[in-house]
Amino acid sequence: ECEFALKSHSAIERGKPFLLIIMDGWGENLEDDYNGVYMAGTGFLKSLKAGYPDRWRTIKAHGTAVGLPSDADMGNSEVGHNAMGAGKVINQGAALVDTALANGNIFTDAGFEYIKEAFDNGGTLHLIGLLSDGGVHSRYDQLDLFMRGAHERGANKIRVHPLTDGRDVPDGSSVQFVEQLEKDLADLRAKGCDARIASGGGRMHVTMDRYEADWKIVERGWHAHVLGEAPHKFQSALEALVELKKADPKVNDQYYPPWVIVDEDGEAVGPVQDGDAVVIFNFRADRVVELSKAFEYPDFDKFDRVRYPKVHFVGMMQYDGDLKLPARYLVTPPVIEKTSGVYLVKNGVRTFACSETQKFGHVTFFWNGNRSGKLDDKLETYFEVPSDLCPFNEKPLMKAREIRDAAKAAILSGKHDYIRINFANGDMVGHTGVFDAVLDACSVVDECVKDLVDAIDSVGGSYMITADHGNADDMVQRNKKKEPLRDENGNPLPLTSHTLAPVPVMIGGPALPSNVRFRRDLPKAGLANITATFMNMLGFEAPSDYEPTLLEVVSV
Ligand code: 3PG
Ligand code: CO
Repeated sequence: ECEFALKSHSAIERGKPFLLIIMDGWGENLEDDYNGVYMAGTGFLKSLKAGYPDRWRTIKAHGTAVGLPSDADMGNSEVGHNAMGAGKVINQGAALVDTALANGNIFTDAGFEYIKEAFDNGGTLHLIGLLSDGGVHSRYDQLDLFMRGAHERGANKIRVHPLTDGRDVPDGSSVQFVEQLEKDLADLRAKGCDARIASGGGRMHVTMDRYEADWKIVERGWHAHVLGEAPHKFQSALEALVELKKADPKVNDQYYPPWVIVDEDGEAVGPVQDGDAVVIFNFRADRVVELSKAFEYPDFDKFDRVRYPKVHFVGMMQYDGDLKLPARYLVTPPVIEKTSGVYLVKNGVRTFACSETQKFGHVTFFWNGNRSGKLDDKLETYFEVPSDLCPFNEKPLMKAREIRDAAKAAILSGKHDYIRINFANGDMVGHTGVFDAVLDACSVVDECVKDLVDAIDSVGGSYMITADHGNADDMVQRNKKKEPLRDENGNPLPLTSHTLAPVPVMIGGPALPSNVRFRRDLPKAGLANITATFMNMLGFEAPSDYEPTLLEVVSV
């Protein structure tokens, strides 16, 4: 216990409620017509920026500042919440897979040995995952290198089950990625490997559900990838994309229905059979935990698997450190230990963490270093508001007001020292690319943040408001000169992905002494610096190995 004991902060006392709000997908960006955060009714947040220059600043939320391979990588919720929860910059999945491919360890470690047993005995190697170069859940170059390396080491039959993206990359780009994949598979075929695409679908409709929002999504994927069954059958993946779009112009990369590739006799070319090897090539956890459970758990009751093949199953990484899921994996995940949550429960802090389903695991699982359980049952309350099941441009308010109500009740109850919430709107609606919906999404967040700051004021507490990465702050694709790109009709091309923008941090509330402000000597600070900062606001000095606090106490 002793090793986790925290010293008291010199200026900030313990005991008043502290509120931490993460506005998901909310960057500080160029203030023009395509900045949804700026164009929306966000007067309250603008007033905090204008009114408290010593208590408002931006921090980095992308690239190497959050443990991604390069500064060309946009931030994302996994790495962002990991960093904010842990107070450290951790080399993340994308970087660890790059390293394992570069030094070859991915082909010599235990996970590969395990799948090799399957293909050495005539089994097929199946690869399931997100097909894009988004770098959020997966990266195409990693898939390509892995396929080639696996073939060189004995995989003679490969079946790829790609999920189209359009969310971390522009909508419509699935065609280029499928063409690239077909080209690389043709290369493998020329080398004597029977390599083909077998099934697929759009990531938001097939396979990549998260936090058990809708198991039907995973069930569709199981039917297509494993059973080789889907309502739509085609001779090639490209044909699938073109024909499905023709049949329903509203379909997009994120929401393609499931499809299966069949041969001349109408037989699926790549269902998963006993003795096969199955690899999920996503490095990020949240959207492949459910599929991993379906492959890994003999007793599984979330849907009827119909057939449960005996396979050698691995993840690109281990996705859940608590559940040890999956048991076998290709690359060892980042070690994220001694997170702020661990310190705070050991120091008796009573925590209330809340979001809606889509972001619930972000403020719990990612926050706690990819562990699914609670750190302390008595001190922590985790409260999930069920998300709507629809594309969120249809309901851009999402569950913001319900989250606000729950957080407000938690603040007023006096039962919690630390209230941590995430508003999903800027991000989830930003990913739809629908600008008008983004305006509603950002406005409701502003409204709810104001109500919660009022509640904190009324109990004499303090607050920090920040974000995990950009998204709603830029809703248009741009050229190098930052000018908007347009389609043939002159309409702006929507940007569905995150941005590289820094994010705002603002602090305040009656419990924050008037001589506490943001220091000015950390211009390069990033998300990991907020951890020491909020630990200070809870009344503690942060552990010495955390990134430095953003606060300074000026003498009066
Ligand atoms: C998603 O999974 O929805 C996107 O790929 C990334 O969004 P997030 O990092 O904000 O969850
Ligand atoms: Co997002």
